[in-house]
Amino acid sequence: MLGPVILAASRSDRMRRLVSAAPVTKPVVDRFIPGETVDQIVPIVRELTDQGLELTMDVVGEDITTPAQAEAARDAYLELIDRLKSLELGTRAEMSVKLSMFGQALPSPTTALNGGASGPEAAFHGGHELALGNVRPVVEAAAEIGTTVTLDAEDHTTLDSMFAIHEELRKDFPQTGCVIQAYLFRTEADARRLADSGSRVRLVKGAYKEPAEVAYQQRHEIDKAYVRILRTLMEGEGYPMIGSHDPRLISIGQELARTAGRKLDEYEFQMLYGIRGDEHLRLAAEGHRMRVYTAYGTDWYGYFMRRLAEKPANLRFFARSMVSK
Ligand code: FDA
Repeated sequence: MLGPVILAASRSDRMRRLVSAAPVTKPVVDRFIPGETVDQIVPIVRELTDQGLELTMDVVGEDITTPAQAEAARDAYLELIDRLKSLELGTRAEMSVKLSMFGQALPSPTTALNGGASGPEAAFHGGHELALGNVRPVVEAAAEIGTTVTLDAEDHTTLDSMFAIHEELRKDFPQTGCVIQAYLFRTEADARRLADSGSRVRLVKGAYKEPAEVAYQQRHEIDKAYVRILRTLMEGEGYPMIGSHDPRLISIGQELARTAGRKLDEYEFQMLYGIRGDEHLRLAAEGHRMRVYTAYGTDWYGYFMRRLAEKPANLRFFARSMVSK
């Protein structure tokens, strides 16, 4: 019951100011977001890769309000990629990006001037072209150091634009990945379309507050959809990335991979930094590719609140630390 309330709070500016300013917040945030700067995150990258883990790096931030912030987001990724270059990790450290942070929801300059979008981008938010223009240099820079970028999935209203940007980027960078969310009704069809040769698709349950018109609301329905979609990905020709901490789905994933005749390097598991760390190491020790989604940066509020919403015990821990101060 608490999850939807926390997810609603994740979009509230007032809550953002309250939570971000509370001195007790920081230690709880650190569990999920282990750094604010590139200098702090590079040693973590080294530590995790030394343990046999792979990474996908997220510079936290979303829902920006100006084109300058979108450019700053682009530059933050470019700085990170530049720093990763000397580590020569190749695809062992890839990038995850949220297009809202690259300007996807902003009015584009032409929309603002003309009072409305026209042309091919009219079907999308005005910032579609802006986001594409900002994310492309990041994908290019990643390719130059031998790695890839995956486009995260945000709320359902953004997905047509995200998939169109994904398709556009794949023309030059076919290895660009994307995320699909099992809770959405549309996702089974998206998975069939995306399970083509060379595609990289991360399947997750879904972390946003979505209405009953577009998404399953019950956990058991979401889990059943997850299995159906994962089967489609495993039987397809692409590279499935199993984004979940759910022990049942992890063992079903292993079984589906075996049945589809996939070798250990023909799919991977992905989990979030700070969640079930022992399981990361166990899967890696078994010979699986295990990628840890590692977020860093200062604008951590939205990411942090979604982690609280996923597990009420996190919120109780957080609330206890607030009252005990
Ligand atoms: P579930 O929520 O059932 O959790 C299973 C178990 O894992 C729990 O019982 C608990 O032990 C542990 N656990 C899960 N979440 C926890 C938490 N926050 N704190 C502590 N323990 C926790 N979503 C999205 O909409 N768009 C995206 O792009 C992504 N990207 C993404 C990347 C990766 C690598 C992962 C793992 C997840 C995402 N997600 C996401 C988030 C995803 O949609 C989902 O909200 C979380 O993964 C939680 O769902 P689980 O599959 O882990 O199952």
